[in-house]
Amino acid sequence: MVSVKQLHPVFFGEISGIDVSRPLSPADHKAIVDAIDRYAVVVFHGQKLDDESQVAFARNFGPVEHSALKLRHRDIKHRLASNEVADISNLDGDGNVMAPEARRRLDWLGNRLWHTDASFRAVPGALSMLYAHVIPDEGGDTEFADLRAAYDALSDSMKKQLEGLVAEHSIWRSREQVGSIKYTDEEKASLPPVPQRVVRTHPGSHRKTLYVASHASHILGMPVGDGRLLILDLIEHATQPKFVHAHTWKQGDLVIWDNRCTMHRARPFDTSQVRDLRRVTTADVASTLEQAA
Ligand code: OGA
Ligand code: MN
Repeated sequence: MVSVKQLHPVFFGEISGIDVSRPLSPADHKAIVDAIDRYAVVVFHGQKLDDESQVAFARNFGPVEHSALKLRHRDIKHRLASNEVADISNLDGDGNVMAPEARRRLDWLGNRLWHTDASFRAVPGALSMLYAHVIPDEGGDTEFADLRAAYDALSDSMKKQLEGLVAEHSIWRSREQVGSIKYTDEEKASLPPVPQRVVRTHPGSHRKTLYVASHASHILGMPVGDGRLLILDLIEHATQPKFVHAHTWKQGDLVIWDNRCTMHRARPFDTSQVRDLRRVTTADVASTLEQAA
């Protein structure tokens, strides 16, 4: 029997009573989907997953997208063989802790900015499933923000102002904010900017939600500066403590977040310690422009 306990006043559920490494019954599948629609982020503790069983679990919820990490880092050795598992660790291709100046670690720093996964792809991410193999003694929380609650709390005039707006999202926009890395033209061309709605309706809950991220560069049809400032204001609004929950990891935690209606960011930790998290993400059905506003 699946049961859910809400951990934050507006979202975030803790699910117990299920072993996600085993085939899912239709009833458990429905209970999990309902919990995601209601709580937007859910955690399962004490799970035992390898890369294969993590991908198999994710497939219950939609097509699994290929990680963009190998597109951005073409000439290094990757630790994980599967293109469906994103290596969110601070380990290099040989399993050693990366040096502070390692290119892939500097690229990972983009995860320290508020974002939603793969909004920079035409068909963005839907559900991200991050599993903790090894976690540092302290620090390295992941924080989540509920963009449905943030939308609800906007003034009527702001809701009206946002109606129909489309933002340009690009991985290079978030990377330049923490950036000392030079990306090649080939890397840049592999992930061109894409348009996404600023407000969308979540298909499962039918709730309206903001859809912004540090990947969002500017608003189409508006001077770049005005669009940037609007995006910054919306991120600031959405990340007030009343919409945010910090997850402190334990080995064996699996967290699922719904990228269609949340943002998240990693918090700092002692990067000489191992932090080995691995993520599998399902793809949304289409660009947000082809979905309900
Ligand atoms: C991610 C991500 C945050 C973290 O896996 O998409 O942003 O805390 N991770 O590592
Ligand atoms: Mn992320």
